[in-house]
Order: sequence, then C-alpha cells, then structure tokens
Amino acid sequence: MRCIVKGGNPLRGIIRLPGDKSLSHRAILFAALAEGHSEIDNVLLAGVTQPMLAALTAFGIDWSLNGDHLTVNGKGLAGWQDPNQEIDCGNSATTMRLLAGAMAATNVSGVLDGSAGLRRRPMDRIVQPLQDMGVEIRATNGCAPLSLIRSKRPLRGMQHQLGVASAQVKTCLILAALVGDRTTTIIEPGPSRDHTERMLGSMGAGIETIKPDGKATPLYRTQVEPLSKPLEPLKMHLPGDISSAAFFIVSGLIAPDSEIEIENVGLNPTRTGLLDALGEMQAHLPIEETKAQGGEPCGRIGIRSSALKATTVMGEQVVRMIDEFPVFGVAAAYTVGETLVADAKELRYKESDRIAMLCQELRKLGVEAIETEDGFRIIGKGKIDGGVVEAHGDHRLAMSLMVAGLGTRTPVVVEGAEVVNESLPQFIPLLRSLGAEIHCEDS
Ligand code: S3P
Repeated sequence: MRCIVKGGNPLRGIIRLPGDKSLSHRAILFAALAEGHSEIDNVLLAGVTQPMLAALTAFGIDWSLNGDHLTVNGKGLAGWQDPNQEIDCGNSATTMRLLAGAMAATNVSGVLDGSAGLRRRPMDRIVQPLQDMGVEIRATNGCAPLSLIRSKRPLRGMQHQLGVASAQVKTCLILAALVGDRTTTIIEPGPSRDHTERMLGSMGAGIETIKPDGKATPLYRTQVEPLSKPLEPLKMHLPGDISSAAFFIVSGLIAPDSEIEIENVGLNPTRTGLLDALGEMQAHLPIEETKAQGGEPCGRIGIRSSALKATTVMGEQVVRMIDEFPVFGVAAAYTVGETLVADAKELRYKESDRIAMLCQELRKLGVEAIETEDGFRIIGKGKIDGGVVEAHGDHRLAMSLMVAGLGTRTPVVVEGAEVVNESLPQFIPLLRSLGAEIHCEDS
C-alpha cells in the first residue's frame, strides 16, 4: 500500500490508544502461565500480538476475546502441552524471545520460527544464557528457527551480565529463573523497561530491582527468586501505548496550529525518554498523571504546535526511548540546528536497521541526516521537503515517515505503508480523525 500525506492541516482533537504492545505481550503470556482465570482489558490486537495469541492455543491454553477484552484460562507452569507444529512468531521478536523463556519455564519441546525479517534478528543473546541455565535450546547461526527440547529440572539459578540493556532478554531470563534452583541475577548496563517485574510481581513472583547507587559502576540488577507457589491470575486494564502516542505527539508538534490531547497513556519512567527529549527541545507538552493501572503509571498528554530546538540524546536516555528514534528523527529534522544521537547501536537490530534506513529515507526528503556507527546526526533546517519514501517492512519507520509529511508543502508518499498494521492498525484513521489528509491506495 502507498499512502500520500498532504501537509499543512492543523490537527485537533482528543484521542485514546490501544493497549501498550509490551504490556499486551506480557499480559497474554503471563496469564497463560498463571493458574486460573485472567481478565485483561484494552489488549492490543495487531499483527505483532496475533502470533502470541495463536501460540497460546498451540500450547493448549484456552482464551477468548470480546472486542479488546481478553479472557485466558491459565494452566500454571506444569499445564502447558507440546505444540504439534512449529510456532510462527510472525515478525515479532518480543513474541519469540518471551516464548523461549516461557517454554523453558514450562518445560515443553517445540520450534519457534518467524518471518524472513525475524530470522535476521539476533537470538544468541537469549540462547547462550538459557543454555548456561541448563535449557536445551538451539539456534540456527545465532538466529531463528529456535528449537527447544525438554531439559533436566530444576534450571540453574545464576548471574547473567547482559552486554546491552534489553527488556526482551531480561524477561526471557526472568521466566526461566522462575524454575531455577536458587536466585538468578540479571545485570544490565541501562534501565530497560520494567513491565515484567511489575506484572509478575503483582502475580506473586519474587523479583527485586536494584538501581545503581551512583558510587559503583552504573549497572542495573534484577533478582529473581524461584517460584514457591503458582502465579496468580491477572486482572488488568492496559494503558495506551506511549510508543504509539509518540507518533501523535510529534504530529501535533510539527503540524501548524495544532492542539491534541491523548488520554490514558502509559507513563512508566522506563518508557518516557522521548518526553524528556522533547521537553529539552522546548516542546509544548503538558503531562497530567492520572490513576495508575495495574501498577503502571498513566496520564494525559497535551500537545501544541511548537518551534523545536535541536538536542543531544545519549547514554541511559537511549534505552528509555529505544522504539522512538524514527519519529524523534522526524522531530529533529523540523528543528533548526544539529541534533545528535549516540550510544544507540541497538537500533541497527530492530525491525530494520533504523540508523541506516531512517537517515536514508530522511535524505530523500531533503534532510541532512548523517549516519554514525552508534547513532546519527540531523542538521535541521526548520522544514523538510515532500518526496517518495519507503517503509522497509518497519512499522515505526512507516508511521514516522507519514508524520514527516504533516508539515511539508508538497506531499510525502510512503510506500509499503501497510506495515503500520503490525502495531497500530488504527494509525491512519486516528490521524485522519484529527484532521490529517492521507490518501492510501494499493501499490
Ligand atoms: C520490548 C523491548 C524492546 C523494544 C521492543 C519491545 C519488550 O526491545 O524495542 O519493541 O516488550 O520487551 P529490547 O528489549 O530488545 O531492546
């Protein structure tokens, strides 16, 4: 699909977003690991969560959907069955990495595979530490397909030192650690998202997070105790996805004369790096915290068109906005001045090489975007040109490039735009409801 975005319209209105992607994956999976009946509201129903739901069926777990309300009858760690076919994780690395941990915890045998794009994503980062714990898991040249076979119990509780901060890897290891013979400690160089710790903690797991104290090296420790009783079922209303909100936030900042409000957005501090960066860029972005939902901070974000200033993002802030760099790059292109992103090599291992692809596509819109090994530099001129760009099978790149077109004089045409359905099928209708002019056609 090709989408043509005509810029210049003011965006106005109040929107709510589907449930957070990370929380949806966890809620679906952890409910299946619990014993009993879980009820989850505002689940994200999109390309990335379908494989997780289908996997539950393959492992013998009953679930049902009524709109975006999900009911799961969890069978506990001992109640999962071997799937009788390969599990297709689609394009979702979260599904694959979290399921590998869940299969280790439930001691089932099976194969995890996925799209050609997913087969290129690094899986050695979970395979090696799982093997160290005694899990019988094999990758194919460090990538999917992954095959797991039943292994000796209990698994070895141990200390893992991760080279990069990664919530997917951490979650995979936390799940395996639930059936360890002693405490498992996971050490990370940065503050990866802590949804697993909050959610599993609320279900009765013993997980402690120890932040760096400033004196020692800046490392984050997560300590996991073996489960002493079954996980309790989950009752939770999921907050809207801050990573999806990011596209509407930047839209409201760059489209002329705009005023938007986004209600019920998750504001977990491990996810709000973009809000901090935009604050430094002098964005008009009032945030009001509302009642927390299931242990996750939530709130309302107001957005008004703003003259943005260039900034620098590096260090721990990178982890706290890891999915937001494509749209942050668009915001940077609308500033006057040089924006620098460093310490972000991880972006090369996402749905696309987001450093290379973002810079390449922004250059097609007349932006001076310079790739570095671990980030990029964008020299903003306060405006960008229209042109034809490509999504490269990356949902966040597709949405970011459409957002880029909201402030241009001539249209931005995004090829391969159907990929937005991976994480936010409502993206185009919601943007149109705010006043954006987007025309899509088959290509
Ligand atoms: C996710 C963690 C992040 C993020 C991904 C979802 C999660 O990946 O990029 O979209 O749900 O745990 P890493 O933890 O590998 O950085």
